[in-house]
Amino acid sequence: MAKLKVGVLISGRGSNMHALIEACRAPRFPATIAVVISNEPSAPGLAKAEAAGLKTVVIDHRQYTSRTDFETAIDATLREYGVGLVCLAGFMRLLTAGFVEVWQDRLINIHPSLLPAFKGLNTHARALEAGVRVTGCTVHFVRPEMDDGPIIVQAAVPVLPGDDPDALAARVLGMEHRCYPLALRLIAEGRARVVGNRVAVDGGKPTADGLINPSDKR
Ligand code: GRF
Repeated sequence: MAKLKVGVLISGRGSNMHALIEACRAPRFPATIAVVISNEPSAPGLAKAEAAGLKTVVIDHRQYTSRTDFETAIDATLREYGVGLVCLAGFMRLLTAGFVEVWQDRLINIHPSLLPAFKGLNTHARALEAGVRVTGCTVHFVRPEMDDGPIIVQAAVPVLPGDDPDALAARVLGMEHRCYPLALRLIAEGRARVVGNRVAVDGGKPTADGLINPSDKR
């Protein structure tokens, strides 16, 4: 079967993009990255994508007078490369409802919290401030509201004594790098379908055991 062609949108470091690149290297992985687009000319992720031999395109939002023109350029590039699914990977521009609707159910995002908790920025500092014992990450289909939409994959990560936002971010990021390729595979295999506000997953084995934090062991 033909592989699903993916467009990855980044603004920065690109470690989630890199996880997707690594996954797509496997000969039997059902998706391939057709193009990486960055709105930031200096995004370190661009060099990583180029080192992997991928096509990269810079679409600098500062060069456009309106958000719609900026998004039209992104849309045109995605179409030029025959993209069937867009993966936001640390893309730091909000997309308009118009763009999101055109790419409805073909546009996914990764967010470093267990949505719907802690939408927006500074998730780890806010999770620590709230005193949660468990946080995590979410891969979801994008809807016009920020960090909203049907959830494909989530992973839970414990908050540990002594964590600061950076330590917690690093632990969650490790899980992000596992969850994003998994979500991409489920979609590319046609096993994750949007049904109303939820995602139905065919053949996914739910993890039976929960995560209790702290445990009662000394
Ligand atoms: C990740 O934590 C992702 O969840 C959030 O932005 C960060 C991007 O990191 N949306 P990277 O550029 O993928 O390393």
